[in-house]
Amino acid sequence: MTMNKLPVTFFAVFFASLAVANEVAIAPTVSPDGLPPLGNIWLTENPYRGNPVAIATGLQAYNQACARCHGAEASINTAPAPDLRRLNRFCKRIADAELNAACMRDNDAYFAKTVRNGKIIVGVTHMPPWEGVLKQELAWAIQAFIESRASGRRE
Ligand code: HEC
Repeated sequence: MTMNKLPVTFFAVFFASLAVANEVAIAPTVSPDGLPPLGNIWLTENPYRGNPVAIATGLQAYNQACARCHGAEASINTAPAPDLRRLNRFCKRIADAELNAACMRDNDAYFAKTVRNGKIIVGVTHMPPWEGVLKQELAWAIQAFIESRASGRRE
């Protein structure tokens, strides 16, 4: 390593370690007991969409596990991490029922994959993986809650 690269390396490592220190997945204490159990094998589609119990459970779990980065009650778009209400915005514009359903399936698969694997980009943890920390019942409940919020509202 040449001397002139040292400061750059130092700052890269320093900031990466700051980011990682904050980005630990902490399981919510919310119980998924009111919801139909789903087992250990992850589904690729949300089985709870529109279910009021899931939405209420999801609100609690979201506020405990996701709000500190994605914004309280999924209702602001000024949080450090993306506004998750935007995720299915594109699907909503598709009028054709079959295409709309296909879009939502892709959206669900992306949601589950992202939540399970987290977002680790060139070794830096932007979001920690939730696999093994967040029960899939709670993950889908959280998505049902996010979708129940008016999407893209400016607040
Ligand atoms: C430590 C902060 C942090 C926590 C806690 C967190 N996230 Fe994230 N999440 C991020 C960041 C940052 C990104 C954007 C990563 C990137 O693309 O650079 C992200 C991205 C996502 C995405 C993809 C968004 C997109 O537009 O592609 C989903 C879905 C997501 N998070 C869901 C969740 C859920 C559900 C929870 C709670 C269980 C959660 N996150 C908790 C930081 C966090």
